Amino acid sequence: MSYRAETETPSHSGVLRRYGDRLPIGLETPLISLGEGDTPLVRSRRIEGRVGCRELYFKLEMCNPTGSFKDRGMVVAVAKALESDAKAVLCASTGNTSASAAAYAARCGLDAYVLVPHGNIAQGKLAQAVAHGARILDVRGNFDDSLRLARRISEQHPVALVNSVNPHRLEGQKTAAFEIVDAIGDAPDLLFIPVGNAGNISAYWRGFVEYYRAELATKKPRMMGWQAEGAAPIVTGKPVENPQSVASAIRIGNPASWLLAEAARDESGGEINAVSDYEILEAYRLLAQEEGIFCEPASAACVAGLLKYARHSAGATGGRLFADSSVVCVITGHGLKDPETALGIESEMQEVEPRIEAIEEAMGLAR
Ligand code: F0G
Repeated sequence: MSYRAETETPSHSGVLRRYGDRLPIGLETPLISLGEGDTPLVRSRRIEGRVGCRELYFKLEMCNPTGSFKDRGMVVAVAKALESDAKAVLCASTGNTSASAAAYAARCGLDAYVLVPHGNIAQGKLAQAVAHGARILDVRGNFDDSLRLARRISEQHPVALVNSVNPHRLEGQKTAAFEIVDAIGDAPDLLFIPVGNAGNISAYWRGFVEYYRAELATKKPRMMGWQAEGAAPIVTGKPVENPQSVASAIRIGNPASWLLAEAARDESGGEINAVSDYEILEAYRLLAQEEGIFCEPASAACVAGLLKYARHSAGATGGRLFADSSVVCVITGHGLKDPETALGIESEMQEVEPRIEAIEEAMGLAR
């Protein structure tokens, strides 16, 4: 079947078909899709009241085909790799990029090689790469080491590097900003987003600027990026040699898109700050228990940032402004990818005998 002749996904046409006129694709580019993009934007039920802004929405990027936002950029990068006759793709990853690369490569008949930092990737993400048949190289180093090596290999061998240093990745990822504007009719006042390798915050900014210039939005949001305290190079202004955080996806000490992220922050009048692991896990629990949204810890970092920002702006001169603001938090990846963290927090599990009385007693139901 030709990629162009048929719509591969009759219901979700995918990023290439939906936003092709704003992407670097031409007639030679195969219109591949796993149904990425078109993710839900849901209104907050409880956290909105806690933080006291006018409107709070969650952009559920965890609803993409491989469970993270990476699919938007990966579909463009893999389509361009196919167009240039590549036979293999390569990436370094804290887990989500590799899951996405493995899936799109499998669909398109390409080999996938993924470099993952030893002991630093959540089990669900590893399972995805295994399931899709990627060649997994467990690098005895951290993410930054893995990315440096992947770049070198791609310079010397005919494999397409599909990390976000590949410009097609950010182009695809910017479409999430388009969707937010399309859904609420304008850009929000503030966008809260986790920052790791710093590609996504840069891509969103590009998308918002593009829509603003095309007069499809009347404003641009302030970009509010959040790193984990133990992996916050952009906040401290220097690379972190041994980054640490419960949020393994953003355990990155020397982000590839550092300068682009600073530009997004500065041009938008935004901020890039840090949240502690404790704050991340508290937001992770709130999202799951008060909003019904089970995301991975890295995604919760931006909600932790929102709670922190709201606490600080209450009473300050910015408080009034914040109370009148529309806010979007980007929920980047699915909680199922990292079951260890979910089960490690607090277990509500209780063993019971397989008898009706035992279950009634455990449920606190009187006879
Ligand atoms: N949230 C999740 C769930 C991620 O997987 C990542 C990055 C980020 C946020 C940060 O986005 O890097 O564009 O600033 N994950 C990469 C990976 C590094 O390899 O999957 P960023």
